[in-house]
Amino acid sequence: MRVFLNGRFVDESEAAISFDDRGFLFGDAVYEVIHLYDGVPYRLDPHLKRLERSLAGAMMEPVDMSLITRVIQDLAGREGREDPDAIIYIEITRGAAPRNHMFPGPDVRPTILLWCRPAPPPDEARVEKGISVITVADDRWAKCWIKTVNLLPNVMAKERARRAGADDALFVRDGMVLESTASNLFIVVKGVLKTAPVTNYILPGITRATVLELAPGVGVPVREEPFSVDELMAADEVFLSGTTSEVLPVTMVDQKTLREGRGPVAKKLKAALQEDVRREVAAGRGD
Ligand SMILES: Cc1ncc(COP(=O)(O)O)c(C=O)c1O
Repeated sequence: MRVFLNGRFVDESEAAISFDDRGFLFGDAVYEVIHLYDGVPYRLDPHLKRLERSLAGAMMEPVDMSLITRVIQDLAGREGREDPDAIIYIEITRGAAPRNHMFPGPDVRPTILLWCRPAPPPDEARVEKGISVITVADDRWAKCWIKTVNLLPNVMAKERARRAGADDALFVRDGMVLESTASNLFIVVKGVLKTAPVTNYILPGITRATVLELAPGVGVPVREEPFSVDELMAADEVFLSGTTSEVLPVTMVDQKTLREGRGPVAKKLKAALQEDVRREVAAGRGD
């Protein structure tokens, strides 16, 4: 596999990162994940803008976004064409320097890594049936809007879900349900779509924004407002949104079955998302 590391493409066997890299030592790094559909990066601009915001939020120097864009186009044009569904992963760390909490000097360049891997879409039977989740106390930090690789609370919550026989975990703070370990969360109440508002306590998902943008067009009104665990349990539908999860129904919470299978709103929105992807792919290929 080809990997872009610090200015050049190398084979993965040659892609080595220093043991002094601050991403490794401190989780001092930000990242992005972009979905490629038929070799076309979906919603590229919002992903790049979020990457710039994450860099600024982590007090890291801006990076040359035209370079990042060129590398993405290169990966999309080669590796991305081989699989109808793939993801591009971008990670930028504060670079390698002898271990010290203090930021290194300006001579230390950031480590920039990009790769592309196949990402098969969520299994259709699983989407139809819906997934099960548990609720967990949100013990993450107060800057969840920064897409940092510091994901220890997220991976621990996911493991707790696995041990409970569930697929994912929902973070709950002050009684309000925020998002899952790697996706945003929506509920449908009396035909209205609700999702937690953008605050410092969620990652402002690109798919979340896309769903909010598409919903009115398919007759689904939206409201960005906090909702409690009780409201979640009483909702007509619950689903996750994310670059890889797309629109993924949740049918069981804390071992309680909410509904049997995918609901009509999730179905409509998944179709709207697929249609939007088709439009962008056609435009991206100049069809
Ligand atoms: C915590 C969290 N929330 C939400 C999302 C969904 O964001 P997006 O739709 O941009 O993939 C992610 C994606 O990684 C995430 O890690």
